[in-house]
Amino acid sequence: MPKLLFLFFVFFFVCEHHASTGFTRQPSRPLIFTPHNRPNSHPQQVHVSLVGNNYMKVSWVTDGNGVPSTVEYGKIPAKYESLATGEHTSYHYFSYRSGNIHHVTIGPLDPATTYYYRCGGIGPEFNFRMPPATYPIEFAVAGDLGQTEWTSSTLEHINARDYDILLLPGDLSYADTQQPLWDSFGRLVEPYASRRPWMVTEGNHEQEAFPIIYPKGYKAYNSRWPMPYRESGSESNLYYSFDAVGTHIIMLGSYADFSIGSDQYKWLANDLAKIDRLRTPWVVVILHAPWYNSNLAHQGEGESMRVAIEEMLYNSRVDVVFAGHVHAYERFTRVYNNNADPCGPMHITIGDGGNREGLAMLYKEPTPSISLYREASFGHGRLRILNDTHAHWSWNRNDDSVSVVADGIWLKSLSSSSLCFPQIQPKTDLTYEKDEL
Ligand SMILES: [Fe+2]
Repeated sequence: MPKLLFLFFVFFFVCEHHASTGFTRQPSRPLIFTPHNRPNSHPQQVHVSLVGNNYMKVSWVTDGNGVPSTVEYGKIPAKYESLATGEHTSYHYFSYRSGNIHHVTIGPLDPATTYYYRCGGIGPEFNFRMPPATYPIEFAVAGDLGQTEWTSSTLEHINARDYDILLLPGDLSYADTQQPLWDSFGRLVEPYASRRPWMVTEGNHEQEAFPIIYPKGYKAYNSRWPMPYRESGSESNLYYSFDAVGTHIIMLGSYADFSIGSDQYKWLANDLAKIDRLRTPWVVVILHAPWYNSNLAHQGEGESMRVAIEEMLYNSRVDVVFAGHVHAYERFTRVYNNNADPCGPMHITIGDGGNREGLAMLYKEPTPSISLYREASFGHGRLRILNDTHAHWSWNRNDDSVSVVADGIWLKSLSSSSLCFPQIQPKTDLTYEKDEL
């Protein structure tokens, strides 16, 4: 234990030094409106999301009727061996009426395989790659994207290095009731979201509720970005879970009822109880409003959720909690109930994908001891899971036109810890090392 404490403090001071000499990014950049520049009836806003381990949902929009909800696909470009049929929906929001929003689930598909596909029998060919069935797997993480020049920069940096799945902890389009901006966002992200599955959860900017007329909100979000909630026993698109190579990922809803006894609370308890750590040694939770935050922005907004749910996550030995909302990056140590705890999750705020509201520049001083790195810049993160026991996290700052790894750390899975998870036999020697949590 003394060695562990010593190494913790060495690591703490190394990171503090980096943070104190850190980089401060300059103001927000203009919104980009991405026009529809294909023939009117052609599919646009194509994106894909996982449905179980072997299926992919292809989502896309057409203006007007006449294009069927079908997807042709196969492993060779322009040679489509299979055809799947799905359904389409549309919605009204005041005077706006959406195009037809198609959702077609295709599969079963082979892991780590590229599929070429065409939507509605018309328009360009797209392709995506299924996640692998075995380690390693790499998740790109970016929150509060919006659609500005910074968003473009972040997406280009994500795309410049391979990854398997994008995780988005809320605040997608920043349409904020201006529905054509949802379409513009769909077109902006299409080159990326049509190639790798995007798994998202909702932020406050997805709500778009209006008293009496749209009291429940989420009309655009639920119509355009349906996630595989039924597959995980959830009755709401606002929270769900899925698995990917040794990792159980839980998407929570910061703006759905999470109080004790609520539907989300009961669903989460049930979901956590079902996790088999021998099959998925890693557990990652994603939500929008951070529970730990030393930025002055959005102080305390995640506190009631933390009070309701943190104990459950702690007892289940969740490895990492990603949050968005605050437009800056911050990494905490493993923490539980406001104290460093070797069996608690590492908390990371990464709400700095590039939105139009700019960065959250002001922090509490002095830095709380549990906050190990904090910086107001745009960027994205990468969680690369190498095996049952080790993963690497990095935060990649948008340093103008290049992406710079500004923060990184090795993680050991809590399921491999004899201290935190004595019921599972450790598979390796669990000596903690420098720069490792
Ligand atoms: Fe937010």
